[in-house]
Amino acid sequence: MSQPDEPGYQNGFGNEFATEALPGALPSGRNSPQRCPYGLYAEQFSGTAFTAPRHTNRRSWLYRIRPSVTHRPFQRLEHARIDEAPSDMPTSPDQLRWDPLPLPSQPTDFIAGLVPMAGNGSPEAHSGCAIYLYAANQSMRERFFYDADGELLIVPQLGSLDIDTELGRLRVEPQEIAVIPRGLRFRVRLNSGAVRGYICENFGTALRLPDLGVIGSNGLANARDFLTPRAHYEDRDGQCELIGKFLGRLWTASMDHSPLDVVAWHGNCAPYKYDLRLFNAMGSISYDHPDPSIFTVLHSPSEIPGTGNIDLVIFPPRWLTMENTFRPPWFHRNVANEFMGLISGVYDAKSTGFAPGGASLHNCMSGHGPDAATFDKATAADTSIPTHITDTMAFMFETRLVIKPTRGALQGVPALQADYMSNWLELKKHFDPSRP
Ligand SMILES: [Fe+2]
Repeated sequence: MSQPDEPGYQNGFGNEFATEALPGALPSGRNSPQRCPYGLYAEQFSGTAFTAPRHTNRRSWLYRIRPSVTHRPFQRLEHARIDEAPSDMPTSPDQLRWDPLPLPSQPTDFIAGLVPMAGNGSPEAHSGCAIYLYAANQSMRERFFYDADGELLIVPQLGSLDIDTELGRLRVEPQEIAVIPRGLRFRVRLNSGAVRGYICENFGTALRLPDLGVIGSNGLANARDFLTPRAHYEDRDGQCELIGKFLGRLWTASMDHSPLDVVAWHGNCAPYKYDLRLFNAMGSISYDHPDPSIFTVLHSPSEIPGTGNIDLVIFPPRWLTMENTFRPPWFHRNVANEFMGLISGVYDAKSTGFAPGGASLHNCMSGHGPDAATFDKATAADTSIPTHITDTMAFMFETRLVIKPTRGALQGVPALQADYMSNWLELKKHFDPSRP
């Protein structure tokens, strides 16, 4: 078996991909022929109900060395932080903000380094999400993971990840995101030292590109910029560990071979990555600015039209040109629930305290907006001149259900900032009834 080191990709979003690591490994004309080429097993991997409408149906056919069932029975695997989630504490309406998660001092791989921060809904109901931070300094070795509870949206903030999946390999660096379908097995290797980032575990409908409405057929995240791996397999016998997340807990089973043994596959249920720097940001070119939904990268619809189970929204580098307008995000409170992170630079509504790797949470109807320093700067700015925001990449997981912080997020690591509210308490009264 000789295969190149660099991952290979295919462009497009939700396409009917077809890829083979050995010539002729994909059967022609039949999904499950009586005998597959090279003595492979055929296995269907379904991410939606069999009868989901064609435009939302996701499934792939895998041609592999052994079927996925070939492992020993599962045993419970303890994980202190995951086992304490979801929270048993009352959720307050407080606006919250956290310092970045410290990098581990002990050997820690991607699974050991998962820190549940908050969540809503439930994996049993296939609705809602869980939000994690991760920090790791070691590759997963002979250790593989899958998540039956949801799809994983991974947002690296520090360091590059090699995500080796059953369907091929992704290399993902900060400013890129990766999405791993529910149930797909993978391993995370580190290729440039310690890593840190954010994860949204989407219990609901698989993420998709948002409709563009009156924007037209181009803009926001373009389908051609999404990259799905080409088939890549390991034919390796030996002791391996398969870790599953199932109904909120981790389970471990031993295997006598690598589960990354898919030699060829076709279909549209597949992992992918996307470079956030390719996002085609839209905004106002006259006055005011639109709702943040204009920056939606990916959308997991709920059963309520127009209401996301979760949305990924980004605040990328862009020009601000609105005249006679308060240009940063305005003060607001809304029915949505917002978990924010900062990948790099400075977020334009917060002058200090929101560091790359940090996080904030603004829940349903809890007011928030720019801090006092940002308010003073924005109200004095000359809006006849465009502003180019360059050094920034912030994002938001926006959900319809209240996001409940875990006990660890409220009482442990990373550190919750005790003085977050002082950012707004410094806002002065400017009202003068004699000066219209
Ligand atoms: Fe907000």
